[in-house]
Amino acid sequence: MNRQLSHLIAILTVMICAYCHPQCLDFRAPFQPASPLGFCSEYADYACCEFCNRVSLSDANYCYPDLKTNPVLSGETAAQTSAAPGCLCLQKINPRLKLAMPLWAGSPNDGSGRLFVMEQIGRIRIYNTRTQRWNFGCFLDLTLKARVLPVPTDERGAMSIAFHPNFANNGRFFVFYTAARGLFEPLPEELEGRPFFFEDKVIISEWRVSKLNPDVADIFSERKLITLYQPYLNHNGGLIMFGEDGYLYAFFGDGGGAGDPMKSSQDKTLLHGKVIRIDVDSDRSKPYTIPDDNPFVNETDTRPEIYALGMRNPWRCGMDRGARGTGNNRGRILCGDVGQYGQEEIDLLKPGVNYGWSAREGFQCYDQATCGNIGNSMSC
Ligand SMILES: *[C@@H]1O[C@H](CO)[C@@H](O)[C@H](O)[C@H]1NC(C)=O
Repeated sequence: MNRQLSHLIAILTVMICAYCHPQCLDFRAPFQPASPLGFCSEYADYACCEFCNRVSLSDANYCYPDLKTNPVLSGETAAQTSAAPGCLCLQKINPRLKLAMPLWAGSPNDGSGRLFVMEQIGRIRIYNTRTQRWNFGCFLDLTLKARVLPVPTDERGAMSIAFHPNFANNGRFFVFYTAARGLFEPLPEELEGRPFFFEDKVIISEWRVSKLNPDVADIFSERKLITLYQPYLNHNGGLIMFGEDGYLYAFFGDGGGAGDPMKSSQDKTLLHGKVIRIDVDSDRSKPYTIPDDNPFVNETDTRPEIYALGMRNPWRCGMDRGARGTGNNRGRILCGDVGQYGQEEIDLLKPGVNYGWSAREGFQCYDQATCGNIGNSMSC
């Protein structure tokens, strides 16, 4: 088949798919699949409501209601032609407010109905799902601290928030963002003398809500827990979240460049390319302490914060809410780990596991020299 024809077919496939299922919208041009996307035909008979009915969702949180009856929503989803009453899996909220690169949203589950939306440039805004309005000001404005260029290719900036499990009572929350390293800011010993500039740093800091106004953070409350200097602008990781165990998990990239030039993901003296797990409650006189059952607490030359290693750029993870009815698997954490050239990973997070990078990319050897050294959990 000649190239133009195959492109035409790819584009047609994409256009047709756009009407199959919202998920297919991820695959708009310029994405050019080598062969037609199998899952699109699988979704073809799933208009969204049928999808929800088919899997008999009893938990309303899995779906947003009123797709068919709300004129605004149905206007936004012109492809929904079925008459079935029901639900929508995606909802577009108030397009009047222009958000600058929103990349994280979450609720503290404090009963307020507030959805906190983080923009990459560093603003955190609040959308109230009850009143369906955006707050006028920001909850927190980090635009002067967070360093990012306003271009789609910059991986830096404000990344995520983790609300303390007891946020409703203590107003504590944690933020993951990247900032510029100061001109004379010294490097920690383990990074000194390495052939990189370390112009940027990832910061994880703790904040508090203002005592006067629950819709505003106390801008003087920042308390830094972790500063991780970055050899390149990309691969900063980006997520923090509380586990069901009450500990704070953070997900760091290998520091960037391509092919892990700092060889950080397998180096347990560094936090780059790792998942860490810390205790922010037991001893408040310290920024954090190490849970006794962290997998490497007894190893020498190993950062005790490390919970898992061998990550490349785990930018987003999610927590399983559990199977309907049984609650099975509730609390387990799954992470997308971005691949280099050939393989993308979805990793089920477990303590002490080495996910392979940069000895392996997915199940394949990436670095022949180290591929055989990292255990036999995966064949290569
Ligand atoms: C570390 O050592 C202590 C004391 O020997 C032991 O109780 C604990 O289980 C060890 N932890 C791990 C993760 O191996």
